[in-house]
Amino acid sequence: MAGKSGLDGIVAADTVLSDVDGEAGRLVIRGVPIEVLASREGFEGAAARLWAGFVADGLDRAQVLSLLGRARVTAFAHVARATAAGEGLNPVPGLRAALATLPEIEGLHPAFALTGAGPVFLAALLRRSESKPAIGPDSSLTTAADLLRMLRGKPAKAAEVAALDAYITTVSDHGFNASTFTARVVASTQVGVGPSVVAALAALEGPLHGGAPGPVLDMLDDIGGAENIGPWLEKKLVAGERLMGFGHRVYKVRDPRADVLKGVVKTLSRDAGRLAFAEEVEAKAIAILARVKPGRRLDTNVEFYTALLLEALAIPRSAFTAIFAVGRTAGWVAHALEQARDGRLIRPLSRYVGPTPAEAA
Ligand code: ACO
Repeated sequence: MAGKSGLDGIVAADTVLSDVDGEAGRLVIRGVPIEVLASREGFEGAAARLWAGFVADGLDRAQVLSLLGRARVTAFAHVARATAAGEGLNPVPGLRAALATLPEIEGLHPAFALTGAGPVFLAALLRRSESKPAIGPDSSLTTAADLLRMLRGKPAKAAEVAALDAYITTVSDHGFNASTFTARVVASTQVGVGPSVVAALAALEGPLHGGAPGPVLDMLDDIGGAENIGPWLEKKLVAGERLMGFGHRVYKVRDPRADVLKGVVKTLSRDAGRLAFAEEVEAKAIAILARVKPGRRLDTNVEFYTALLLEALAIPRSAFTAIFAVGRTAGWVAHALEQARDGRLIRPLSRYVGPTPAEAA
């Protein structure tokens, strides 16, 4: 049992939502490869696929675009209470506290209400931390375009909107990762979608799950120059530390999302030198990990190029994981709905290995 801790390799449920093939390095969301979803359908298209049959039958991208726009406007009416709840906290717990204040909105499915509220509350919280007023949403825009606009106070360039859209689409769902599983456990009590999403946000904070992209940039900065790459990486591994942006429980090969995001970073082309340096760090890290951790098959995960992409969009490092959450909310919602409709209360057993009453007496 100890060797299987972390439920490694255990199938916990059937799902129609996403298929993560760790041996082939492939991610499929409702039948669509992630590369295709990110380049052709965007976040609203991905949400329409994830929610079809759970929120409404025959849901399409145009309906999701319109209802998420309406949800952002509705959320903005609650922004004062939400930001007061999240004030002074880091962005992920801040977003968690803010979303917990969202009331049920009559006539609006919680899938839309929550996914629309995320970008509104996050932008307001980040602006408030800089003593700037919240900016109201534009319901005609996509989630990506409006999030950048609400963060900056002015519309973003088309290439930047496309980059953020590809990012939040790419991370919209990913099997039974820790936060999604958390959402399903909570949803299995029939408590509803809102608390399931709030609970998922708590699971996302740890460095082993969503918290790695900021530290990826810290690593690149700390390495400094090409001559330091090898010695820096060796030193960290000898000290027993982990290299952020590498390794994955399911992928035994390169995470397919890494290449989607690397392609997107190239379109932003803010700093070609930064990308070239990161590629050099990546190549050396993979080689050194293979030598230092033989047989572990450690390769690049989604967080490595997430870091470069969000840096190129001038998002503050502290907010990287919260931006991930904006995209992943679509998946959390879908899993919560699937669990509540098709699943049973999740209640596994544990094996007691503590003292017997005789030993404890
Ligand atoms: N750097 C160095 N060693 C590593 C790394 C890494 N990034 N990842 C795993 N290992 C090593 C472990 O030290 C361990 O070695 P050991 O057997 O000699 O003790 C072995 O590989 C297996 O490690 P586990 O922790 O059992 O692997 P697990 O499947 O639980 O870990 C995880 C997956 C948490 C992602 C891990 O690879 C890691 O910590 N990576 C760095 C953090 C990171 O990038 N997180 C973001 C993940 S993606 C996401 O959440 C969206």
